[in-house]
Amino acid sequence: MGWLVTGGAGYIGSHVVRAFQAAGIEASVLDDLSTGFDAFVPDGVPLTKATLLDRDAVRAALQGVDGVVHVAGFKYAGVSVQQPLHCYEQNVSAMVILLQEMRDAGVDKLVFSSSAATFGTPDVDLVTEQTATRPESPYGESKLIGEWLLKDAGRAHGLQHTSLRYFNVVGSGTPELFDASPHNLFPLVFDALVNGRTPKIFGDDYNTPDGTCVRDYIHVADLAEAHVAAALRLAAGESIEPVYNLGSGAGSSVRQIMDTIRDVTGIPFEPEMHPRRPGDPDQIVATGELAARDLDWQMRHTLQQMVSTAWEARQKAGDAYPA
Ligand code: UFG
Repeated sequence: MGWLVTGGAGYIGSHVVRAFQAAGIEASVLDDLSTGFDAFVPDGVPLTKATLLDRDAVRAALQGVDGVVHVAGFKYAGVSVQQPLHCYEQNVSAMVILLQEMRDAGVDKLVFSSSAATFGTPDVDLVTEQTATRPESPYGESKLIGEWLLKDAGRAHGLQHTSLRYFNVVGSGTPELFDASPHNLFPLVFDALVNGRTPKIFGDDYNTPDGTCVRDYIHVADLAEAHVAAALRLAAGESIEPVYNLGSGAGSSVRQIMDTIRDVTGIPFEPEMHPRRPGDPDQIVATGELAARDLDWQMRHTLQQMVSTAWEARQKAGDAYPA
């Protein structure tokens, strides 16, 4: 019966569903559509419209599945500081229910969407899986708790699992799937350009080469493929690490992103400088060497392609893009 993708109607989850389909593996989706869209779920893929807090719906969705990719969750680090209990309910309470129901249904394989936010502000230029985790938001803490839940469920109940720590996920694997996050760089810049406003840079006095924050941008379709590789490895009973960083080893500054967006869109804008956004680390870039070794993780897309595919999807979205 294939793999259940929680959050499979969202920006990242819907790419994961397509990666499973491309690999010839059946997928089904459980999503409460709080930030996802049923139009993102391909025709023929079963969709359970429910929250993970609905135990009966989770139990029903798990019937006959081989494993779970757990993408669903509350993903806004900044907002989580104001709404910690909501974040913990969505990311921790919901995951406990999922793991209990998986245990009871005998579903023993799980690939978890974790986050670079587990690191907080790293004290190294290039983080590895050994770098200390010091999350700085309830969101980052909730993702780290998720990793602990898996470790403990593995030990107690035999769950086979791995956690994929996402860095800055951008781009689009197919123009139908766009990122509508109201808090992230690409959607905010595109929104400004589409509505005739000037994109903003939050801080140019960071300790980085051009003063703007440096991040490790990765293409969502490359990210999605790593989930399939992890699922196949779990299904084959091959050894797998508890955690992989899905980073590229190379960072781009906000200013470099703005320059690439200007080149790709052909819109001649000059970003406005604004004060720092609270909680932004100077730089966070990861080596993806462990994932390359075990999960065939490769960055197949360039920064130019990340921007051009994201921009194409944003333009194509038209009225489907949330106000
Ligand atoms: N930024 C701007 N202008 C904008 C929006 C963002 O300058 O209009 C800057 C931010 O200040 C930051 C950079 O662009 O320096 C990237 O910001 P994003 O919000 O796109 O991404 P973050 O690095 O803050 O967050 C991402 C994920 C989080 C995750 C985090 C872990 O979105 O979920 O990486 O590092 F927690």
